[in-house]
Parts: sequence; C-alpha cells; structure tokens
Amino acid sequence: MAYDIRLKNVVKVFSSGKHKGVVAVDNVSLDIEDGEFFALLGPSGCGKTTTLRMIAGFEQPTEGSILIRDEPMEHVPPFHRPVNTVFQDYALFPHMTVLQNIMFGLKMEGLSGDAAKQRAYEALELVRLPEVANRRPSQMSGGQQQRVALARALVKRPAVLLLDEPLGALDLKLRKQMQYELKSMQQQVGITFIYVTHDQEEAMTMADRIAVMSEGRVLQVGSPRDIYEQPQSRFVADFIGETNFISGTLESHDNGVGHVRLAQDTVVDVQMPKNFSLSSGAVTIPIRPERIGLLPNGNDSPFHNMEDITILTGHLLDSQYIGTDTRYTVKIPGDNEIVVRIQNVDYLETVDFEIGQEVQVFWSLKSTHVLDH
Ligand SMILES: Nc1ncnc2c1ncn2[C@@H]1O[C@H](COP(=O)(O)OP(=O)(O)O)[C@@H](O)[C@H]1O
Ligand SMILES: [Mg+2]
Repeated sequence: MAYDIRLKNVVKVFSSGKHKGVVAVDNVSLDIEDGEFFALLGPSGCGKTTTLRMIAGFEQPTEGSILIRDEPMEHVPPFHRPVNTVFQDYALFPHMTVLQNIMFGLKMEGLSGDAAKQRAYEALELVRLPEVANRRPSQMSGGQQQRVALARALVKRPAVLLLDEPLGALDLKLRKQMQYELKSMQQQVGITFIYVTHDQEEAMTMADRIAVMSEGRVLQVGSPRDIYEQPQSRFVADFIGETNFISGTLESHDNGVGHVRLAQDTVVDVQMPKNFSLSSGAVTIPIRPERIGLLPNGNDSPFHNMEDITILTGHLLDSQYIGTDTRYTVKIPGDNEIVVRIQNVDYLETVDFEIGQEVQVFWSLKSTHVLDH
C-alpha cells in the first residue's frame, strides 16, 4: 500500500514563557493512503488544526516525525511540501478578480500567460464556477467564495489537499450540497484529502476513513461503518451518533460471545471484540437506539425461535414523537434505561404504547459488543 502521509509518534507541546506547556498533540501516529479522503474528527481544542499545520509545515513537531511520500519533512519548508491548505475563512484577495486570485499561486511558481489562464479555467471548471472568473470576491456568495478558495488550492495540483473546517462558515443547506460536491470532486481529481471537522455527520458523509481525536490523542481510526458499529471507547461511541450504555458484569465468554449479567435473573450475550482486555468483570454494552425493537409484552415476538436474538422485558418510561421516528425510553433489568428509536412508517402496523406499560425490547447479537469501562 502506498502511503502518502505518515505521522510517527508526533507530539506538539506549545510552551509560553514560564507557563507549563500545553500538549496539543499527544503521540499521534497515522498512515494516510494515496488518494484517500481522510477525516480528522473531534471536538474543539482536541488538536486537529495543530496536526494539520504540522503536516503543512507551519508548525514543527516537538517529537516524532512526519513523512510525505516516504520523505521526512523535518527540514522541508511549507512552500516546498507537496501539500496545499484550504482554511475556513477563504482568505481570498479582495482587490483581485477570481481569475487573478487563482492564478496568483501559479505566478509564484513562475507560470503565467495563457498556460496559467488555462490551468485556472480548468480549476474553476472543476469547482463548477466557470462563469465567475471576472468577479471580485465581494460579488459572490459564501459558498462561491469557498469554491474559489478550493480552485486556488487545486490549481497547483498538490499531492495532498489539507482542509481545515472548510465548510464551517456556510449555512446548513449549502454545507450539505458542498459536502457532496467536494466528495465527487475529490474522486474526480484523485488527490489525497485530509479533512478536519468537528461535525461527525460531515466526516461520516465524506470520508473513506476517520481518525477520532480527543485531548490530543487519536482514539480510533476506521471507516465510518467501523467507527459507528464498533466504537472501541465510550468517547467514540458517544461522540458519533446516539448510543445506549448498558452496564453489567462479564461472567464468561466462549467462541467470541460474551455472557454479561445485567441482573440476578438476566444474562445477555454480546459479541466480544478481538483482544478484549478483560475476561470478566464490569463492562458496558454500547447499543444504538435504532438497532433495538419494541413490542408490547405478551405479543408473540417474531423472533422467539431465533438464535442470536436477545429479548428483555421492561417498562416504558417515556415516548417522544420526533417526526422521522419515535424515541421510547425503556427501563430494563439492572436499573438500565435505554432509548429505542422506531421509525414512523406507514407500511407497518403501528402500535400505540402507553407510558408505564410492560414491553419487550429485542436486538440481534450483531448489534452488540462490550467496552471495558
Ligand atoms: N499557538 C498556540 N499556542 C499555544 N497553544 C495553542 C496554540 N495553538 C493551539 N493551541 C492549543 O492547543 C490545543 C489544540 O488546539 P487546536 O489544534 O487548534 O484544536 P482544534 O483544531 O481541534 O480545535 C488547544 O488547547 C489550543 O488552545
Ligand atoms: Mg481547529
């Protein structure tokens, strides 16, 4: 596999005068593949921008190394690195036309005249804005300006494009449209994108792989499906989408299936992650609300005879209608409260549940695993 970018044990400490340093990036190692759309995702302050700035060369790592296409970057200044950066504030030159803005970078490289103009028009074509070449930034919408900023970065044909929350200033509808366009543009040009965002939905929509960061560390790297279906920590499970955390005690496990006691008379089966740290003891079962089914108690469950289905009896505590689905809060054994989301569809018979009524919740073994805390 060809790696475009490798970070090996990268640490960044910011120290200011006599104050103790801030560890912005804490021992981060990443391998980003050629042509990949890679997202750095995490809450504000977790070290995303600092990581990106070190790749770009605007900051030096305190420890560790960064390689681009197998070449160590330690002594390579930003303008000699095969990367280009797009920031949240588009930073276009206000006194120049769009075309001049895009050609500016090429001029720095010694390319001008018709050849530069042609490259600039190709870049505008790529961001689907060929008609604005002679406008000034102030004569365009935010979305258009951001596309021009992209064109300006793409025109230099970098091996890697670094994007720092590039859609953050746009309204929701435009952001969604740009997400889609950016993704198809990236597939079209085939260059590696490293995309920083704090918006989990944005990362899920666009990225081939996501690195979830918290407090300077990378907690998990994986495809959107891995991250959503097999979060390896409470933080990741909680940060991406909605999750129930059911607590219990792992009693034993065999053939990749763990047996977790929730209460005196209730043991449920869960998938065991490979290399799980515990063979018994207190664990948490994370389970997504939409992976749980709900029926009135006493109904013949359609799954009674199926293996790999857990069925528990509980009490309905609350229900909230939210349009696309209804969220039910159910108390289940072991003093656990879980949220169940049932989609509101017309093609199935709907059940009217009453608060306080006895219900059955059920889920498939496939939807479960365990965390060690
Ligand atoms: N130049 C700097 N000097 C001191 N601290 C900084 C500097 N840049 C960032 N930090 C700190 O490093 C941490 C990570 O910041 P940053 O990488 O900007 O996070 P993010 O982009 O994920 O919001 C924060 O605590 C921030 O305050
Ligand atoms: Mg940032």
